[in-house]
Amino acid sequence: MDYEGLLELIRYRRSVRRFRSDPVPGEMVEKVLEAARHAPSAGNSQPWEFVVVEDPETKKKMSRSIVSLYKEAKRRDPTFNFKVAVQPHLFTAPVLIVICGDRRLQEAYPVLLRRNVLLRQSLAVCAYAMQLAATSLGLATAWATIQGGPPEAEVRSLLGIPDVYTVDHIMPLGYPDTEKESKDRFLRPVKQRAPFRRALQEIVHYEHYDGGKFRTDENVEEFIWSRTVTRIPSH
Ligand SMILES: Cc1cc2nc3c(=O)[nH]c(=O)nc-3n(C[C@H](O)[C@H](O)[C@H](O)COP(=O)(O)O)c2cc1C
Repeated sequence: MDYEGLLELIRYRRSVRRFRSDPVPGEMVEKVLEAARHAPSAGNSQPWEFVVVEDPETKKKMSRSIVSLYKEAKRRDPTFNFKVAVQPHLFTAPVLIVICGDRRLQEAYPVLLRRNVLLRQSLAVCAYAMQLAATSLGLATAWATIQGGPPEAEVRSLLGIPDVYTVDHIMPLGYPDTEKESKDRFLRPVKQRAPFRRALQEIVHYEHYDGGKFRTDENVEEFIWSRTVTRIPSH
């Protein structure tokens, strides 16, 4: 294991939102899940379970339900760029991995702490392990957030997932269709902005917080509109 190799993998991984239709061999899906299983979790609670969905009808129903959330969200938050955030990648991915988090495991976490957050953090770490594993296998992924809205319940009911599980994210998995992605005009700003990362000297403080690096509210606002992938002026 060497640092350069790891850094290369971390840097090479990118969210891909268009997939080729080629099926993903079962053993590759298993390898991705095997990596997820080894992720760290709060208290080693391992609150995750995964539903692997490949059936086209089920995927279509799930994707439709999820896109409906974004339509409603757009109504409530017009400046959010739903053209890039909407989840069309779910429709084309040959495999959808539904990440379920067993809320009962929160009992393992100290009462003093925000247990709900610890659960979510654990699920996020495992999702990232999946992404890195997929990248190393030449596969593509992109998070699809569904928490906080009706699709979460709909996906649960569609797949028979008991209520005790939270379903925050779905991880589509497949071979990247880079050509299709580069032609998609809605994804263009995403592709341009996503690789941007803040410089190390801006984000690291030694010994104490360096007030000289503190970003004003205006700086942050500016950053949101010029660097993030979901707040992009629509004109
Ligand atoms: C917690 C979390 C939630 C995300 N949710 C979504 C999502 O719902 N839809 C989507 O297209 N991308 C989603 N993303 C992907 C980010 O937009 C993406 O990681 C970011 O723009 C950086 O681009 P990169 O992954 O290509 O490096 C999410 C990422 C994280 C970590």
